[in-house]
Amino acid sequence: MECGWPKEKEAILVGKPTQRSLLVLCSYHHRNTEKVAQAMAKVLHAEIISPKEVRIRELHMYDLIGFGSGIYDGKHHKSILDLAGRLPNVECKKVFLFSTCGIPAFGMTQEVAEGNHKQLRDLLVSKGYEVVGEFGCVGWNTNSFLKLFGGLNKGRPGPQDLEDATGFAKSLLEHMEDKKKKGPGGGSGPKTRPVGRI
Ligand SMILES: Cc1cc2nc3c(=O)[nH]c(=O)nc-3n(C[C@H](O)[C@H](O)[C@H](O)COP(=O)(O)O)c2cc1C
Repeated sequence: MECGWPKEKEAILVGKPTQRSLLVLCSYHHRNTEKVAQAMAKVLHAEIISPKEVRIRELHMYDLIGFGSGIYDGKHHKSILDLAGRLPNVECKKVFLFSTCGIPAFGMTQEVAEGNHKQLRDLLVSKGYEVVGEFGCVGWNTNSFLKLFGGLNKGRPGPQDLEDATGFAKSLLEHMEDKKKKGPGGGSGPKTRPVGRI
């Protein structure tokens, strides 16, 4: 499945962020993950681009890079994983992972989200990237036969999910500011954050 970023995308670069952040997003099923990305981008003053738009040689300009997509067959979208596979080895570049997945809301936990992120996390960690936070919540899912009865999780991510995504992004910023003040090794990582309403 082709993954592009919608034409009407807008770069959200306002204010004077002390940290430069970038979100790399693939969101095609119902643009569920895009909603989460927009909420985070507002806090982080981040630009959102598709994996295709990434210029690997320019990534060093960012202090923090988020990678997000829907979950397909238990992992991030292929375009995100392919990109991660092409990234160079680094020393401690800060990244975070986010996703929306289609399991029933009552089954959603932080462990589920982190399980969905395993392949991407392992790949990035093996290349020296430091994963400073992970966020997941449920999203509307009309895959396969689910479409016959309107799908699962209609209306998700909803207002509470987006509030959680905003809170998660704030905790990332705090972490980055803390690290900057205290230098390498200083500060504590943000708690891995909510998975929406469980
Ligand atoms: C082909 C396909 C495969 C999917 N596989 C999974 C899966 O393995 N696990 C899961 O929880 N959700 C799965 N989903 C549901 C999506 O992860 C979910 O709807 C997500 O919110 C879509 O995000 P997007 O709208 O940003 O693309 C799948 C959806 C599609 C269309």
